[in-house]
Amino acid sequence: MAINTTAAPAGTVQLEYDGTSLSLPLIEGSEGEIGIDVAQLRNKTGMIAFDPGFGNTGACRSAITFIDGERGILRYRGYPIDELAAKSTFLEVAWLLINGELPTSTQLDTFSRDVTRHTMVHQDFGRFFEGLPKDAHPMPVCAAAVGALATFYQQPETEQSIHDSVTRLIAKMPTIAAYSYKHSLGQPCMYPRNALDYCSNFLYMMFGTPCEEYAVDPVLAKAVDLLLILHADHEQNCSTSTVRVVGSSRANLFASIAAGISALWGPLHGGANQQVIEMLDAIEAEGGDVRAFVDRAKDKKDNSRLMGFGHRVYKNYDPRAAILKNACADVLKAKGLRSRQLEIAMKLEEIALSDDYFISHKLYPNVDFYSGIIYKALGVPVNMFTVMFTLGRLPGWIAQWIEMRRDPDTRIARPRQIYTGPTARAYEPMHVRAR
Ligand code: CMC
Repeated sequence: MAINTTAAPAGTVQLEYDGTSLSLPLIEGSEGEIGIDVAQLRNKTGMIAFDPGFGNTGACRSAITFIDGERGILRYRGYPIDELAAKSTFLEVAWLLINGELPTSTQLDTFSRDVTRHTMVHQDFGRFFEGLPKDAHPMPVCAAAVGALATFYQQPETEQSIHDSVTRLIAKMPTIAAYSYKHSLGQPCMYPRNALDYCSNFLYMMFGTPCEEYAVDPVLAKAVDLLLILHADHEQNCSTSTVRVVGSSRANLFASIAAGISALWGPLHGGANQQVIEMLDAIEAEGGDVRAFVDRAKDKKDNSRLMGFGHRVYKNYDPRAAILKNACADVLKAKGLRSRQLEIAMKLEEIALSDDYFISHKLYPNVDFYSGIIYKALGVPVNMFTVMFTLGRLPGWIAQWIEMRRDPDTRIARPRQIYTGPTARAYEPMHVRAR
C-alpha cells in the first residue's frame, strides 16, 4: 500500500493510499503552528494514526499556555513566564490561567479573600489522615485526600458549584499538603492562619508547631511563590492530559485532579525533582566524580539518566530552569547558605552542555534540575518536592479541565490501538493445556 501526504489544495493535505485520495483539513493556531485534522481518517479509510507517547498528536485546541520548545519560550495566556515570575504573585497567575486575563485589584482581592476563607478542611479529615500509614509518601496521600474532597462536596455540577470547587481546591491544597507532611512526622496538624498570604500560610502549616511561635521568613515565602508560578501550567503534559482524559468522562473536578496528582508522581514527570537531589547526593557519596556520572548517563547499557535533563518539548534551555538557577543562587545568598548540591549541579550542567551526546540529543536542564536545590534550602524534605510541584500545577490543571468541559469539540477520550496479540484460536480445555 502506498501512502503519500502532499500539501494541496490550500488549507488541506492530500493523503493518497491504494489509488484513492483523502483530503485532510489543516488547522492553524494563533502562533502559526499547523496541525492535520485526522478526525475523519478511520471513517474514510479504516486506518488509524499511530503515535505512541502522543509526540505528534494534538488532542485539543487550547488558549492557555504556549510553548516553543525549539526557542525556549513559555507564555501563560500570552504573557512571558519571566515577566510573570518577576512581577506577579501565584494567586494572580492562578486567576490569569483560570480566567484568561490578569485580575483587576478588586478581582484579586475577592479571589484572595475567598481562597483564604476556605483553607480549613473538614474536621473529619483528621480521621482520614490517621487511617493512612505514617511512612506513606505524601503524593498518594494528597491524591487520596483530593479524591476524598469529592465525598465532602457532592453538589450537582453547575457553573456555581464548579466555581466553588475551584476556590476550595486552591484554598485547601496547601492545607492538605502540609497535613500529609505533619502526618508523616507524627506531629499535630496546624490550622491555617488567615492573616498570612498563600505561601506564608503554607510554610506556617508545614513548619509551625502548637508549642511555639513560628515566624515565616519572607525570603522563603517569596521563593515558594516563584516556584509555584513557574510550575503553574505547561500545556498538554502527562498529568494535565490525565486530568483532561479523566474529566472527558464527565468525572468531577476533584476526581480529575486526584488522577492528575497520581500521574505527576511518576519519576519521569514531577517525581524527577526528588530524583535530581538523590542523584546529586549519590554523586557526592561516590566521591563527586561528575564526569563519570555523565558518562554513565550516556551509556545505553547503564540505566542511569541525567535526571533533570531533557524534555519532550524543550529542545533548548527550559526557560523555567534559567529563572530557577538564578533564584537558587539568590536564596542561598540571602540565607547565607552554601550548597554542595548546587556546586555539583552546576558542574554537571557545564560538562553535559559541552558534551557531544547531550548537544546532539538536545538535552538541556529542565525545571526540575534546580527546583530541588531551592526546596532543600527552604527546608522542604525530599519526599515533599513533588507535592510542591502539585501545589503549583493546580491552577493549570483547573484551567485545562474547565477549558476541556466548555469546548464543544470535547468527546470522551478513547484512543485506538493496533492489536498485535493472537488471532482467533480454539479454547483449550484444562486437561489438554501443556505448560
Ligand atoms: N539523560 C540521558 N539521556 C537522555 C535523557 C537524560 N536525562 N533524556 C533523554 N535521553 C536520551 C534517550 O536515551 C534517547 O536517546 P536515543 O535516541 O539515543 O535512544 C533520547 O535522549 C530521547 O529520549 P526519550 O526518552 O525518547 O525522550 P522523551 O521525550 O520520551 O522523554 C523525558 C523526555 C523528560 C522523559 C526524558 O528526557 C527523561 O527521562 N529525562 C529525565 C527525567 C526528567 O528530568 N524528567 C522531568 C521532565 S520536566 C518536568 C515535567 O514535565 O514533569
